[in-house]
Amino acid sequence: MNITLRQLKVFERVARRLSFTRAAEELYLTQPAVSMQIKQFEESIGLPLFERLGKKIFLTRAGEELYRLSRQISLQLDEAEQLIEELKGMEGGRLVVAVASTVHYFAIRLLADFCKRYPKVRVNFKVTNRKGLLQMLDDNEVDTVLMGRPPDDMDLVAEAFMDNPLVIIAPTDHPRVGEKGIRLEDLRNETFLMREQGSGTRNAVERFFAERGVRVLASMEMNTNGAIKQGVEVGLGLGLVSIHTVERELADRRVVVLDVEAFPIMRQWYIVHRAGKRLSATATAFEEFVRSEARRFVAPFNAILGAGKEAVVGAMEY
Ligand code: PGA
Repeated sequence: MNITLRQLKVFERVARRLSFTRAAEELYLTQPAVSMQIKQFEESIGLPLFERLGKKIFLTRAGEELYRLSRQISLQLDEAEQLIEELKGMEGGRLVVAVASTVHYFAIRLLADFCKRYPKVRVNFKVTNRKGLLQMLDDNEVDTVLMGRPPDDMDLVAEAFMDNPLVIIAPTDHPRVGEKGIRLEDLRNETFLMREQGSGTRNAVERFFAERGVRVLASMEMNTNGAIKQGVEVGLGLGLVSIHTVERELADRRVVVLDVEAFPIMRQWYIVHRAGKRLSATATAFEEFVRSEARRFVAPFNAILGAGKEAVVGAMEY
């Protein structure tokens, strides 16, 4: 068999996604390039690896067996790469870090300082929502992830490092601005701008409302914190966001935090990696940097959240 690592890599991705289109997107290739690699791979093996039924593709028996083996090979290649990184030490090391979209506002500043301290490190920084981050962890595509509490049923090492309060923001001319202890039911008829399904913020908000028996409709769904902030600013509705995402807008008084009963919804951010992952010296240094330095990069929000609200921390985490 005359197969190349490249073919194996392309095959593994198509088999994992069961889609030529998604594999092409993720590998930054065109779809014809992916099809060509698979065709050549099948020719050198002498057996078809995929079969098409209607619009879907499935692995053949040979495809399934090769997929299992190619997963093992690519994990071993990753391990070899980690080992080389480890031997290189911090000099010229590589860091692949992925963060939740709520985290990236401060993570960028944190990263800038990390890179000042370790100027030779090459960084690949990815920003996506919770669902995307869990997928990356599952696919072993990242060293370290900064995100909300990961699910217990995944084999991960997770360590909380900072509070992430979720708040309701309003435009400055909203009639309830300045009111103390607004009742949740009184906001029933408001238009809420909420994050998309798959976002950790959205999950937490839905769980919080469901537990209180309050029905709030995501009257408008937006897949970035930036769009929600702008939407609130121009009067589209109220927003449900992490306070970290609106630091600048609050300072400039472009939006305000409403004082709503039981708010903020208390969440935390975690440093996460796969259990058993052999972290490179660079990734270990980054995790250590987050642990020790993160607090320097966030504004103290106590004044906005109100006295006593910090006491909620740790009581119930969403
Ligand atoms: P997200 O981030 O809302 O962008 O998904 C928060 C999280 O990971 O929980």
